[in-house]
Amino acid sequence: ARITLRQLLDHAAEHGYGVPAFNINNMEQGLAIMEAARACDAPVIIQASRGARSYANDIMLAKMIDALTEIYPDIPVCMHQDHGNNEATCMTAIRHGFTSVMMDGSLMADAKTPASYEYNVAITARVAEMAHWVGASVEGELGVLGSLETGEAEAEDGHGAQGKLGHDQLLTDPDQAVDFVARTKVDALAIACGTSHGAYKFSRKPTGDILAMSVIEEIHAKLPTVHLVMHGSSSVPQELQDVINRYGGEMPQTFGVPVEEIERGIKHGVRKVNIDTDCRMAMAGQFRKIAQENPREFDPRKFLKPAMDAMRDLCRDRFERFGTAGHA
Ligand code: G3H
Ligand code: 13P
Ligand code: NA
Ligand code: ZN
Repeated sequence: ARITLRQLLDHAAEHGYGVPAFNINNMEQGLAIMEAARACDAPVIIQASRGARSYANDIMLAKMIDALTEIYPDIPVCMHQDHGNNEATCMTAIRHGFTSVMMDGSLMADAKTPASYEYNVAITARVAEMAHWVGASVEGELGVLGSLETGEAEAEDGHGAQGKLGHDQLLTDPDQAVDFVARTKVDALAIACGTSHGAYKFSRKPTGDILAMSVIEEIHAKLPTVHLVMHGSSSVPQELQDVINRYGGEMPQTFGVPVEEIERGIKHGVRKVNIDTDCRMAMAGQFRKIAQENPREFDPRKFLKPAMDAMRDLCRDRFERFGTAGHA
């Protein structure tokens, strides 16, 4: 069954667990998430970026979610727009059956330029009002994701902000968060605490100066009933880096967000945990392994099935560790 983000995160708050939000671009990722959820009885958040929507087509995505909810009737599914950049992105998602949207007004509609606070409040409040008319949930974001080590916003994947930012922009201000939630009426608030998207988050195992979990604790103390969202929450496990590099990859050593830090966040109001990179790495490692071990292989299923299984195992681990398991 399809449920909204609000319904799911209210339940998560009541029972003290977090929910991973995994990105989908194709059938195999959808099946991997749902197989993992079924194996441990977890509710799911599946999210599609603007890039995913143009890759897979809105109609394909909508029918895939129909299929997944029919194949796995006992698993509650929230279908969420990841990083909506304007009103049209959010409204067209809802029209295609998404039950939740993120209006990311921390950046301008180009998804590169940091936005002013008043721009963010105005566009997020507008989207929340419209989405709530039709029963969909809304996630807003306050603070720009980026590295406290370098001051760069969105260092890795080229769709980030420009120029060097200060800690005031890279860390969400707790008092401003109180004002933002009151004025926008969002159902969930994404915060900035030093994480960034992609594999290259930290050059060393993060400590409190570069991964500011204390900011989450401060925000939760001021907003104890607000559902918090952590973006850029892949852990970039060493094992997945090793598989990729053992089979011809050349990923430089990097560090993600340790799962223990996310568990700490979940104790302080974090309810939605966005993970894409770890799933990509789990799949890509298997593609490389099969290609190198079986150079005569050319059946896509022989690549995709092990990739799907690796992503399923990753998803299941996060459901177990975030306490989502058992709550479907
Ligand atoms: O926002 C980041 C997610 O990992 C989605 O990435 O825009 O390449 O689909 P994407
Ligand atoms: P990762 O790149 O750390 O997986 O973050 C994904 C994300 O925040 C999607 O919105
Ligand atoms: Na999102
Ligand atoms: Zn994100």
